[in-house]
Amino acid sequence: MEWFVRNFIKASLAWLALGVSLGVAMAMVPHWVVYRAAHMHMNLIGFVTMMIYGVAYHVIPRFSGNALYSPRLATVHWGCANAGLACMVGGFLLRPHVGTGAMALLGLGAVLSAAGAYMFVYGLWRTIDGDRALRRAQARVRASAGTPLPVAR
Ligand code: HEM
Ligand code: HEM
Repeated sequence: MEWFVRNFIKASLAWLALGVSLGVAMAMVPHWVVYRAAHMHMNLIGFVTMMIYGVAYHVIPRFSGNALYSPRLATVHWGCANAGLACMVGGFLLRPHVGTGAMALLGLGAVLSAAGAYMFVYGLWRTIDGDRALRRAQARVRASAGTPLPVAR
């Protein structure tokens, strides 16, 4: 398993543990419902989306038969996704207390999370397409394999 696959799955599990813990706290302390947006995104971006990122980075190259377009991009994506979600969650948790003061943190987190998602879209899109030029060249070589070489006069 590549580094970013293992760590997306571990991050997903860690966010699930944090997200459901906040959910339990919200269920027990009714006025903590002000943290609903933090709970929701810990579970939906943290658990669900990061699990999808990790599993997709593992299976899409295997399904498509093409190497992952850029393992380095996937590693940067992991950093952006986790730093971004941590800032978003921090912003959502602070918002009921400091109001618009939390918007900078929330905004930074939103931009980082979205940037990570764009990296995922680009990296997997290019993986699915594979190296088209290389495949066309291979097809030409295969097609000409039975053609006799020109004879010098
Ligand atoms: C032990 C597990 C969990 C507990 C105790 C829990 C608890 C809660 C509570 C108390 C609320 C607030 C409901 C309200 O507005 O009054 C809530 C909202 C929400 N939870 Fe959870 N939750 C859990 C797991 C999850 C998971 C795993 C997900 C997603 C994968 C999730 C997604 C959501 C969403 C989307 C909302 C917002 C719903 C809305 O705004 O209508 N929760 N949860
Ligand atoms: C870059 C990524 C994302 C950003 C910046 C973002 C931001 C937000 C913000 C600011 C809200 C309003 C919260 C509030 O004011 O209470 C919201 C609501 C919500 N988001 Fe996200 N989100 C992102 C990704 C996602 C993803 C991937 C999912 C699901 C898989 C999701 C599910 C939801 C849901 C269910 C709501 C609640 C809508 C409602 O209140 O009825 N978000 N999001």
